[in-house]
Amino acid sequence: MDLLKLESLTGDGVISRLLYREEVTSTNDMIMEIARQGYPEKALALCEIQTAGRGRKGRHWESPAGSGIWMSLLLHPQRKDLLLSSITLLAALAITRSINEELLEMGFADSSQTLRNNTDTKTSSSSILNAQIKWPNDVIVGSKKVCGILTEMISDGTNNNIIVGIGINVNQTAFPEELLEKGISLAMATGRQWNRESLVVRVIKHLVLLEDEFENVGDLSPFLEEYNSLLISKDKEVVLTADNIDFPDNPYTARGITKTGALIVEDKMGKSHDISFGEVSVRGLLGYV
Ligand code: BTN
Repeated sequence: MDLLKLESLTGDGVISRLLYREEVTSTNDMIMEIARQGYPEKALALCEIQTAGRGRKGRHWESPAGSGIWMSLLLHPQRKDLLLSSITLLAALAITRSINEELLEMGFADSSQTLRNNTDTKTSSSSILNAQIKWPNDVIVGSKKVCGILTEMISDGTNNNIIVGIGINVNQTAFPEELLEKGISLAMATGRQWNRESLVVRVIKHLVLLEDEFENVGDLSPFLEEYNSLLISKDKEVVLTADNIDFPDNPYTARGITKTGALIVEDKMGKSHDISFGEVSVRGLLGYV
């Protein structure tokens, strides 16, 4: 990673501190260390390789050297309600925006497409690609996951410390067999190498701005239109699953998110239900998306 290229983040005051190590267990652990010491400002931890990268639900996150973006941002939001779920959704939005901006610059998307509702997206040209969101927080390119987000919180009573861990598969040219069905890298999706530093800078700038606006407003209402336009399952049938709940009405139709980040699904009778973050898994009728 070329750290000089990341200096605009501290230079422009987007974050106050940048931490970098070649190899760590997890960048979430790395940033948690300074959060525990009471570091009061925004900070970003990055590494080249994670030896114990963590995914959601206790899963392992494959983090090979030199090819991905493995980073964690420390934020201190003041409002205590809905922090984890809202900030995770905002991170997905920031990453999707950033990838779409880069795709546009590379000539893979047109500007109308980056904000267009997925339902009427016709990919008649093979050179058209865009990033979308699988609620709540996976970023998808070409029907496969390119990015995952693991948000964690430590609160010491006075400070809220939110750690937004972001893993983006950028320049891998191959994947372990068991991940191939669901995962892809940006390089594999586009056939080009990506500049990791430029993507890091975009993502962090977008996320910090989105979080500021979220703090001012107090909910996700300013972002609903954009999030919903990027939602891969919008107006499509989805299957709901959870460990201890049966969903006899499957499949439902996804309609968008609420200002608190719940997914609105409609049953066959046209009745709406709000699905809260973390309770239920949502997948497409034919598989992962
Ligand atoms: C998921 O989709 O399950 C979430 C994956 C999150 C991975 C990132 S990589 C940087 C940060 N450090 C970790 O150990 N996990 C997150």
